[in-house]
Amino acid sequence: MANIGILIAMVSFLPETYAQICTVPELSQCICLHGGTEVDCRGIGLTEIPRNIPNTTKALYLDRNAITIIDSASLFGLTSLELLSLTGNTITSIETGAFDWLWSLTYLSLQGDTELDIPGEVLTAINSFTNLSSLSLINCRISSEDINLLSGLQSLKTLSLPNNDISYIKAGFFNGFSSLVNLQLWGNNLTTVSANIFNTTTNISLLVLADNPLLCCTMTDFFEWRPNQPKLRNLYGTCNDFNRTTDINLFNTSHCTFPVDGQWGSWSTPTCSVTCGVGTGLRNRSCDSPPPSDNGKECVGPNMEAINCSLEVCPGIYCQYNLSIASPF
Ligand SMILES: *[C@@H]1O[C@H](CO)[C@@H](O)[C@H](O)[C@H]1NC(C)=O
Ligand SMILES: *[C@@H]1O[C@H](CO)[C@@H](O)[C@H](O)[C@H]1NC(C)=O
Ligand SMILES: *[C@@H]1O[C@H](CO)[C@@H](O)[C@H](O)[C@H]1NC(C)=O
Ligand SMILES: *[C@@H]1O[C@H](CO)[C@@H](O)[C@H](O)[C@H]1NC(C)=O
Ligand SMILES: *[C@@H]1O[C@H](CO)[C@@H](O)[C@H](O)[C@H]1NC(C)=O
Ligand SMILES: *[C@@H]1O[C@H](CO)[C@@H](O)[C@H](O)[C@H]1NC(C)=O
Ligand SMILES: *[C@@H]1O[C@H](CO)[C@@H](O)[C@H](O)[C@H]1NC(C)=O
Ligand SMILES: *[C@@H]1O[C@H](CO)[C@@H](O)[C@H](O)[C@H]1NC(C)=O
Ligand SMILES: *[C@@H]1O[C@H](CO)[C@@H](O)[C@H](O)[C@H]1NC(C)=O
Repeated sequence: MANIGILIAMVSFLPETYAQICTVPELSQCICLHGGTEVDCRGIGLTEIPRNIPNTTKALYLDRNAITIIDSASLFGLTSLELLSLTGNTITSIETGAFDWLWSLTYLSLQGDTELDIPGEVLTAINSFTNLSSLSLINCRISSEDINLLSGLQSLKTLSLPNNDISYIKAGFFNGFSSLVNLQLWGNNLTTVSANIFNTTTNISLLVLADNPLLCCTMTDFFEWRPNQPKLRNLYGTCNDFNRTTDINLFNTSHCTFPVDGQWGSWSTPTCSVTCGVGTGLRNRSCDSPPPSDNGKECVGPNMEAINCSLEVCPGIYCQYNLSIASPF
């Protein structure tokens, strides 16, 4: 115990972790660490991002303030910035170009307001941050179409998109996200999550689908995929099938019924009214291939019809017809 105490005392006095008030006037309320490369402005009532943040800054903590706008000037030229954290704010607007200099980011986290609509250009800029390993966009009104703008972020370890408007994720979206271990999608509008959004197996260990209107009977492939994911230790979600809620980990798809629509069988061979030439015949068919079940639809269309049947041309007509073609003169 004594040794640990000494170690902690030594570590806290190492010069690079020594915290002091930042020298830049605009950051006078903030704390600078690691020779000023880490700027901590958490919970100090800021209403906007401070200006003149040094371009040597590697980590910028702006959490738990009252910042509403991320303008295009405040983060200008911060090409060394690896961490930007803006949780606990209610961002209402992000200007186009605001993130254009932040290509070194490995960690980005921000919390929006229900009014926020992140411009596509900003999402496209984020998508170009090849070293980004953690992205968290909380309450940012991210839609199903918006996430398609983030498909290039294949270095992500953590993707956290809680309280957004995602209602579907397209097949194969996470193919190539081989580092992804945490995927948090709580508080969206997902009714179904197919295993086809992932590769056959993944490294995901945490998958949070809580607070979505999941209908797990539409997710049978997910429930076949799930037992083959030994790395997926924590799965959260609630199924809303059968007018009751069931923990997704306890859901049993064998209780689901699936409506099967009826399909017509083939037509019977008609009995023709004549033995040669053109006549009429009746043919019928049955809705039995398959028949409808579990509230599936009946077949559409008639089960019986009259058709013209054309048998071999009658001999007399054949000769006459052939002659008229063969000798026109
Ligand atoms: C920071 O800004 C200074 C002066 O404006 C410039 O010389 C330097 O190259 C910049 N450094 C980085 C990492 O952008
Ligand atoms: C990404 O990380 C690698 C390795 O740390 C580094 O060499 C590279 O410059 C980084 N890329 C960007 C755009 O920051
Ligand atoms: C899981 O992670 C390992 C090691 O990081 C990697 O080699 C592998 O490709 C990943 N698996 C998938 C399915 O992406
Ligand atoms: C959720 O998705 C359904 C369709 O799946 C849509 O009708 C509904 O408006 C969505 N709700 C919200 C809050 O986006
Ligand atoms: C899984 O990922 C590998 C490598 O990225 C790819 O070759 C393969 O086609 C993917 N499988 C599926 C089912 O998408
Ligand atoms: C679910 O509840 C609604 C309204 O209470 C009812 O109309 C519907 O028939 C129920 N569905 C099932 C499958 O029980
Ligand atoms: C699921 O339900 C079926 C039919 O009721 C039952 O045979 C099976 O054991 C159940 N599976 C699990 C994992 O509870
Ligand atoms: C056609 O109708 C006849 C007489 O009602 C019935 O015996 C036969 O099974 C029907 N065929 C088909 C293909 O529905
Ligand atoms: C059957 O033949 C008659 C006379 O040639 C024609 O008017 C009718 O449209 C045909 N019916 C079908 C179903 O082909």
